[in-house]
Amino acid sequence: MIVVTGATGGLGAATVEHLLARVPGDRIGVSVRDPAKARHLADRGVRVWQASYEDPAALRASFAGAEQVLLVSGNDPSADLVALHRNAVEAAVAAGAGRILYTSQHGAAPGNPYTPTGIHIATEAVLSASPVAWTALRNGAYGPLDQVLGPWQETGRIAQPADGPVPYTDRDEVAEATAALLAGERSFDGPVDLTAPRALTFDDLAATASQLTGRTITRVVVDDEQWVADQAAQGLPEQAARLVLAFHRAARAGYFAKTTPLMAELLGREPAGAAARLAQDITT
Ligand SMILES: NC(=O)c1ccc[n+]([C@@H]2O[C@H](COP(=O)([O-])OP(=O)(O)OC[C@H]3O[C@@H](n4cnc5c(N)ncnc54)[C@H](OP(=O)(O)O)[C@@H]3O)[C@@H](O)[C@H]2O)c1
Repeated sequence: MIVVTGATGGLGAATVEHLLARVPGDRIGVSVRDPAKARHLADRGVRVWQASYEDPAALRASFAGAEQVLLVSGNDPSADLVALHRNAVEAAVAAGAGRILYTSQHGAAPGNPYTPTGIHIATEAVLSASPVAWTALRNGAYGPLDQVLGPWQETGRIAQPADGPVPYTDRDEVAEATAALLAGERSFDGPVDLTAPRALTFDDLAATASQLTGRTITRVVVDDEQWVADQAAQGLPEQAARLVLAFHRAARAGYFAKTTPLMAELLGREPAGAAARLAQDITT
């Protein structure tokens, strides 16, 4: 039995779909907050049990019989996410799981100024201190490129703060690689990076966007505080803007520069590069 948490979220749902292509539905369980959102999975033979990371007893029950648990990191920045993840790790251990795979973050290293890093480092430490085998999937940044680059198609400018190399990664491919690991195609102890093969800067992406459109797409570096003020003027809460800024600062410092070929190996093909993803986004 392979049990997936967060299976009604973006990454978890895609992982279950890729798993269903590899193993029979009755070998898959999902542990979800709202089973009504997973009815389509129950219809395909998947075991659907209700649990939240706040509820250790329900978590333990939902992990019954699991050889492996995919623990999808929580998404509520106001919650004590490390405590919630600890609940899930302890429940998986109590249920007798053989391995936990946890969705960590690329560049999860001490000193990385991108705020969620601390949660992932601390959760990896919880896993390391537990008696269970574990794998931390340090997933590359997989936000949509049009969100990362801003309205460049309208303006002809990528006007963002100073950046650094980042392997902008496709979420569905992370899910596919995760399903390959859960299906037992390969197994790793400790942290592994699941990222696109190349780390790119906004200069690189401006050059690619220019080639794809036949227009000159210019990279414009905006002062950090000016950028936060611009975002606020457009309605983005300051806290959210500062989180993105922290990501760029981490990129500048090189925290996201390292890539490995693991994702390509797990997919059995070259992952979709930024050029292919930009091409998909082009509307005119
Ligand atoms: N690498 C990246 O670029 C990146 C980007 C964004 C987020 N992340 C991290 O990776 C995780 C997965 O990404 P995603 O795109 O799938 O995010 P998502 O669509 O927001 O999914 C998060 C999932 O976590 C579940 N969840 C949240 N709090 C929970 C709790 N207390 N108990 C049980 N389940 C809980 C949610 O349940 P419901 O379905 O019930 O809401 C949802 O299914 C995120 O939660 C975040 O930690 C990574």
